Amino acid sequence: MIDSVGKVFRRGGRRTVALAGASLRVRPGELVCLLGPSGCGKSTLLRIIAGALTADEGTVTVGERPVTGPSPDRGMLFQTPMLFPWLTTRDNILFGPRAQRAARRHERDDPELDEEATALLDRVGLAGFGGAFPHELSGGMRHRAAFARALAARPSLLLMDEPFGALDAITRERMHEFLLDIWEQHRTTIIFVTHDIDEAILLGDRVAVMGGQPPVIGEVIDIPLGRPRNALDTDTEVFLDARRRIRASLRS
Ligand SMILES: Nc1ncnc2c1ncn2[C@@H]1O[C@H](COP(=O)(O)OP(=O)(O)OP(=O)(O)O)[C@@H](O)[C@H]1O
Ligand SMILES: [Mg+2]
Repeated sequence: MIDSVGKVFRRGGRRTVALAGASLRVRPGELVCLLGPSGCGKSTLLRIIAGALTADEGTVTVGERPVTGPSPDRGMLFQTPMLFPWLTTRDNILFGPRAQRAARRHERDDPELDEEATALLDRVGLAGFGGAFPHELSGGMRHRAAFARALAARPSLLLMDEPFGALDAITRERMHEFLLDIWEQHRTTIIFVTHDIDEAILLGDRVAVMGGQPPVIGEVIDIPLGRPRNALDTDTEVFLDARRRIRASLRS
């Protein structure tokens, strides 16, 4: 639940209103896309929801609890996959869960965690790559590894900031189907930031259109496409109609 969130950045004598009274109610289990042009405050809003940045006004609550700082309950995925280069894929995935267990004074090597890592590696199509380091993986594989690491913390809310923006069109299409597939299984609530209209329609239950000066969340558009979805849906009349509505909303 995002309620009238505003943020102003001050640097030197300059004042940038990054967000002005953004409100959005995200339903549990929903995949909602935040769509808007560069600089409209998408990352700012996502960082506020993550608890990495404090809002100047308004509140964010996740499952009744107000956000006051970061929490393992809210996972974040960035445009560039964040993996520790000195750890193998398996150890990257287990970094969070191990830290949590260590904090609770459990054994560091835990067969239960190893099983969980194996299952996650398998789920993201990286079975056999658990021992590989990030530099030994392709770009798409690194994204999937970062994804597995985010899922390992079992977040109730996953925040994704243009996670596939840097990938080629074919790999991106695969990652979309992969994301939708995982989401169908887990039904984790996802807030997905993008400036790509088609990506927003293909993924989202709803698309929240951001923009304006100062930036706000404008129209929130329902995407009445059935599930499961795949890239072939982009040719359907429902898809084209959603695209027309979003274009109109971005212009107004
Ligand atoms: N730490 C900061 N200090 C000063 N200004 C900032 C800071 N972070 C963001 N801004 C400004 O706030 C505005 C919104 O930035 P933000 O990163 O949220 O945009 P965005 O919608 O994510 O854009 P993009 O699609 O390019 O990633 C921009 O004008 C940016 O320059
Ligand atoms: Mg951004």
